[in-house]
Amino acid sequence: MVVARTPLIAGNWKMNLDHLQAIAFVQKLDWALKDAKHDFASVEVAVFPPFTDLRSVQTIVNGDKIEFAYGAQDVSAHDSGAYTGEVSGAFLSALGCGYVLIGHSERRQYHGETDEIVAAKVKAAVKHGLVPVICVGETAEDLEAHGASAVPVAQLEVALAGLPKKADIVVAYEPVWAIGSGQAATPEQAEQVAAPLRAVIARMMGEAAAAKTRILYGGSVGASNIAGFMREPNVDGALVGGASLKINDFSAIIRYQKHVGV
Ligand code: 13P
Repeated sequence: MVVARTPLIAGNWKMNLDHLQAIAFVQKLDWALKDAKHDFASVEVAVFPPFTDLRSVQTIVNGDKIEFAYGAQDVSAHDSGAYTGEVSGAFLSALGCGYVLIGHSERRQYHGETDEIVAAKVKAAVKHGLVPVICVGETAEDLEAHGASAVPVAQLEVALAGLPKKADIVVAYEPVWAIGSGQAATPEQAEQVAAPLRAVIARMMGEAAAAKTRILYGGSVGASNIAGFMREPNVDGALVGGASLKINDFSAIIRYQKHVGV
């Protein structure tokens, strides 16, 4: 069964751009893509701003009929209640978020997010109608000790345990050593982990889920290397950090089909 997966280019803004800067950025990116006659049905675009920007992004996206999806960078495992500082998936859904990043390596590293916490957040996202973008990836030490795929595969197995088979998910493979380092993985390295990740989805959620789930690569993606990743059979898009904050770079990444094969 061959299922065409719509490529997804996602921008993780991390802790950058306040709500006023977000409005200006989303408008400029939209103009750049419309000028270039970008077909949003052939390559989906999503942005992941800080929580405080989401209401403003919703307003500009709705008001200007902008075809970007958007989502938060984290979500609470809980629905509501005495959880100071947390944000419920229900609130994100109410703001029109389609997606939410879960288990980014910076959350795992700096905020003590374990695989079990990630799994609980994935369940909460699905419960509230959000598509979790489940981030997995190995550190340089993991790579040395276990090879590339062992840790991401183990992380994904925990994240998917107990999830309804019908749940819509996206998986982002981000080797920690490639994030913000300027040293991206090679397309072959990305494929060598993306393929076993798809096998995990097949084993745990079924072949149909594996065939339709998008697997993104993240870690020092830029306009000059995106085309190589997108040629790999199991890489269906990118999760972009630094380059997603620059209009020209991000729009060139989104328009990679114009330079695939170059
Ligand atoms: P860079 O693209 O800046 O390496 O960041 C990748 C990332 O962490 C996206 O989530």
